[in-house]
Amino acid sequence: MGLLEIKGLKVAVQEKEILKGVDLKIAPGEMVALLGPNGHGKSTLLASIMGNPAFQVKEGSIDYNGENVLSLSVDKRSKIGMFLAMQNPIEIAGVNYSDFLKSAMNSHLEKKLSLFQFIRQIEGAYKEMGIPFEMAQRGLNEGFSGGEKKRNEILQMKLLKPSFAMLDEIDSGLDVDAIDVVAKEICKEREAGTSFLVISHYARLYDLIHPSRAVVMINGRIVTEGGPELIKRIDHEGYEWIHRELGISVEKEIDTPMSNTSIGVCATKEALDGTH
Ligand SMILES: Nc1ncnc2c1ncn2[C@@H]1O[C@H](COP(=O)(O)OP(=O)(O)O)[C@@H](O)[C@H]1O
Ligand SMILES: [Mg+2]
Repeated sequence: MGLLEIKGLKVAVQEKEILKGVDLKIAPGEMVALLGPNGHGKSTLLASIMGNPAFQVKEGSIDYNGENVLSLSVDKRSKIGMFLAMQNPIEIAGVNYSDFLKSAMNSHLEKKLSLFQFIRQIEGAYKEMGIPFEMAQRGLNEGFSGGEKKRNEILQMKLLKPSFAMLDEIDSGLDVDAIDVVAKEICKEREAGTSFLVISHYARLYDLIHPSRAVVMINGRIVTEGGPELIKRIDHEGYEWIHRELGISVEKEIDTPMSNTSIGVCATKEALDGTH
């Protein structure tokens, strides 16, 4: 049985069909790289797996550990072990980051953490992630730089310990040292048994985290897959060869406003509910 099994998934956003029949299976312990040109539906796929209500599933199925998750809310999906580190994490002024972390962590636990346990856990995690602990007192991503947001997404993963983590361009906006810190954390979680679906445009991250398999999304479908050599090829040659060899024309990104894929994704919603 796969950990994640997606069959014939069609997803629309604002009535426009973005995913046009995605099939993808991820086995326990696998790390799958999701590649593809911009605007072809990669973030849409991750947001749909996580259950972002902005994306309407029109057809197909998403099973996680043998359970159909399509009817589950984002926070239920988070509780059964799914996690999404967003491409563009949202900023919410007035929601304290540590309060957010506390409600997200507690919502995964039967018995709530004591203040002492909580502080001890997050202090260690901040230190390992190289994030100044004072940032825990700031508003949720409020005024954080791109890199700081990304480090904090990984901090969330570290604290929530998901069994399946999706990382959407986690390395964009990070300098080389920060990529090393983030990659080290990803490898650590993987050794602990977490499975991954990872979007990146850079071979550098993939060189550090060693995906077991790569899949390529074009025009809202997975069109080909392979081993790590596929990542190398795309890094060197781009996507031109897909047209030549597979006869698939790669539609150029349509210039539409986007980046609001993040709203309501991840454990954010639930944590916010908890603080209100
Ligand atoms: N919230 C949204 N509202 C409207 N259109 C969206 C939204 N999110 C994504 N899209 C559109 O869906 C398409 C695929 O986007 P996306 O999944 O972000 O691609 P990728 O991650 O591969 O770059 C794009 O045309 C984008 O403009
Ligand atoms: Mg994207």
